[in-house]
Amino acid sequence: MQEAGAHEECSDAPRHVAIIMDGNGRWAAKRGLPRLEGHRRGVEALRRTVRAAIELEIRYLTIYSFSSENWRRPAAEIGDLFGLLRIFVRRDLADLHARAVKVRFIGSRQGLPADIADLLGEAENLTCANEGLTLVVAFNYGARQEILAAARAIAQAARRGDLEPGLLDEQGFAAFLDTAGIPDPDLLIRTSGEQRLSNFLLWQSAYAELVFMPVLWPDFDGAALASAINEFRSRDRRFGGLASRAPSLKERA
Ligand code: IPE
Ligand code: IPE
Ligand code: MG
Repeated sequence: MQEAGAHEECSDAPRHVAIIMDGNGRWAAKRGLPRLEGHRRGVEALRRTVRAAIELEIRYLTIYSFSSENWRRPAAEIGDLFGLLRIFVRRDLADLHARAVKVRFIGSRQGLPADIADLLGEAENLTCANEGLTLVVAFNYGARQEILAAARAIAQAARRGDLEPGLLDEQGFAAFLDTAGIPDPDLLIRTSGEQRLSNFLLWQSAYAELVFMPVLWPDFDGAALASAINEFRSRDRRFGGLASRAPSLKERA
């Protein structure tokens, strides 16, 4: 149960912003370019967004970069996406570290090329003591798979006698998710006009404010992030309770 008023102090600025970075392929198609070019420009949009998030003093930024379902794409595109992740981690890690960014990956490491799995571990290790923005990269991530893995681990712990099923609560369950220790997203943005979650943070987004934007991901920037945050600020988050604030004069008019 949420305590009444527990979230009031956070209602103004989002502490955790999660983004479904969508529309790279359409951005490229509109220009007669290969999809890879859209993905490349998408990495540039990500760099801009991380800088903007730091300036806006967001504490956690989670980005959806490869879903468990993206394995359904042609092998060549999957290879391109993995290649871009390699480039992003290799080229940007030092800069992220210098900006005190703590990098964390969520999703399954199984099935990933060994060099990628090593790279993810390296990025996490290098930045683990940083106290700036936490950048959570959802790579090879699917929320149903994450919840299922948690359920399996919980069942195994119960069978070993390490966990009493009747005492398991929401907090206890969440500790088995990849996002253990990370607060739930306050604001979830999806670009490209699609209005669905595509298996992203299903447990964690129970009370996230959803903002769907028509902008294609490669065109996303600090101004787009600021406009999503303004939209977030105009929402009344009630968490099942009653209105958290009195309506402003403008809203009453
Ligand atoms: C988002 O862009 C990047 C990934 C899903 C990896 P898309 O590749 O989905 O672009 P669209 O949706 O085809 O335009
Ligand atoms: C969601 O986008 C996954 C990522 C952004 C990584 P998709 O483009 O894969 O989602 P669908 O297929 O349109 O639902
Ligand atoms: Mg897409």
